[in-house]
Amino acid sequence: MKKILFMLCCALLPLAASAEKVQLSTPNNTLVLDVWKGGEPKFVYYGAKLSADDFASLPAPTNANWSHLDIYPAYGATHTMSETAFAMRHADGNMSTQLLVEEYGITSVDEQAPNGKPRKGSLLTIKMKDPLYPTYVNLYYFAYSDVDMIECWTDITNGEKKTVALTQFYSSCMPIRRGNVWINHFHGSWAAEAQMVEEELNNGLLRIKNKDGLRNATTDRQEVMFSLDGKPQENTGSVIGAALMYSGNYDVIVDTDDTEYHYYFAGINPDNSEYYLKRGETFTTPRVAYTFSKEGLSGASRNFHRWARRYQVRNADRERMILLNSWEGVYFDINQKGMDQMMADIKSMGGELFVMDDGWFGDKYPRNKDTSSLGDWVVDTRKLPEGIEGLLRDAKKNGVKFGIWIEPEMTNTTSELYEKHPEWIIKAPQREPVKGRGGTQLVLDLSNPEVQEFVFGVVDNLLTKHPEIAYIKWDANAPVMNHGSQYLKEQSHLYIKYHEGLINVCKRIREKYPDVVIQDCASGGGRANYGLLPYFDEFWVSDNTDALQRIYMQWGTSFFFPAITIASHISAVPNHAVFRTTSMKFRCDVAMSGRLGMEIQPKNM
Ligand code: DGJ
Repeated sequence: MKKILFMLCCALLPLAASAEKVQLSTPNNTLVLDVWKGGEPKFVYYGAKLSADDFASLPAPTNANWSHLDIYPAYGATHTMSETAFAMRHADGNMSTQLLVEEYGITSVDEQAPNGKPRKGSLLTIKMKDPLYPTYVNLYYFAYSDVDMIECWTDITNGEKKTVALTQFYSSCMPIRRGNVWINHFHGSWAAEAQMVEEELNNGLLRIKNKDGLRNATTDRQEVMFSLDGKPQENTGSVIGAALMYSGNYDVIVDTDDTEYHYYFAGINPDNSEYYLKRGETFTTPRVAYTFSKEGLSGASRNFHRWARRYQVRNADRERMILLNSWEGVYFDINQKGMDQMMADIKSMGGELFVMDDGWFGDKYPRNKDTSSLGDWVVDTRKLPEGIEGLLRDAKKNGVKFGIWIEPEMTNTTSELYEKHPEWIIKAPQREPVKGRGGTQLVLDLSNPEVQEFVFGVVDNLLTKHPEIAYIKWDANAPVMNHGSQYLKEQSHLYIKYHEGLINVCKRIREKYPDVVIQDCASGGGRANYGLLPYFDEFWVSDNTDALQRIYMQWGTSFFFPAITIASHISAVPNHAVFRTTSMKFRCDVAMSGRLGMEIQPKNM
């Protein structure tokens, strides 16, 4: 994300001598906090936009000890028995922290959103410090001026002379008043992603988390909706939607204790990720996006879709091309004649783009199945004697655009890349690597800048040599299977640094290639998240293309993601994943509810 371009009205508000109600509004939502110098900031209100009279009639803030409504509770000094958002070990071993306000203020912001579009809004900054230690935490709330979304995140700076350890670093916390509150969340697995779960919140702790390392949306999803007026309704009732925007391991918890609130916390999963901050270093957490709607689940969804299309999805203002992807049509059986035929066929059906999936590469080790070649991104000239040039020529002849599949974060034990760079893979120190897909797949360690350079180069080489390539399908089919970086000194930084590396690469690609369409795919819908979407145009929803099961997956996905991001393909019957036969009309209708495409061998239709 580009830096803030300029700030208007930069002056921080004068410090209030006593507690102040601070409000931040979007067109239809208001957030109110109580803030005062020397105190812990407290939650007051989040919901429908308040009129001036409503705001004035909110109870006056007091410094009373209602510590349960602290908006960013830190562990150890005043909070030990309840859940906290932040915990650390100071350099002297002290495990307690207290975060008291030093100053706060609201500024107007006019900057570039992560998808490259300009955005405007108001930024509330609350600067906090521990009274005993030079530990600084800034809490931010950014309210958009034109969409009902408030994003919240923090940054943490170590001012101590020695390194400190962060052991918990959630992005945000939100108390939600009790009283027949329900939650919608989305659980899944490979080929059955985003299955909606709807349940009443009860006493106890609900934890939704991911520890895959790479694909954080295959099983549980990090986005949740809270219905405040009883069982969720499609078009009525008050709903809060919350989406953590992260590409890596995450943690979302909702704690219901003996008080009058449910407490929502979301952020990077701290398990096995203790983070060491050196003197003067700053750690920034990912954002959580909040919306509120009085129009039920659909209202909250519409707010997310509007925000996403404007600020979080690449090129969402552009019409998408109808495409044919080769995977379910020919799998690894790639050859020049076959590709040419598929291009002609998709053109004859009114399509605009042909995407060659897995199986096109490998020199010393040809990619004929999933056991070899990842990392060797050179054309297999036994299959494609005229190379990508020949394919681009055929695409032009057939009047369609051309796209290509890659899986740049991976390698196989059988590959020239692994022979050359065994030190680039993720593996536990002194242990044999655990291998994934095909019994040979390994993950490259993106915390290593050399690996970042290589992964950037995979895309850069393709697009520099072949600027006519219009579409890239970026796949990722393995998790972190044993813990270890051959590059990092601090092993517990692996998960966090991997994702910093991934985002660095994505940013570089988008700076150089803002217009190429890029699909985010990870064994199906494993990377449907707002951490990555700003750098991608769409994501693959699932490897299961059965139209009936797709209705449930696409419906679950649509709670937070707009249709333009949901790649949906007409496929053959009986379906390759579940062997069901459905009508062509039904398959077309389901595929047309997302970004329409096909994944079929047209000549067999
Ligand atoms: C997993 C993807 O989800 C599929 O669509 C396909 O691209 C395969 N990988 C190729 O290996």
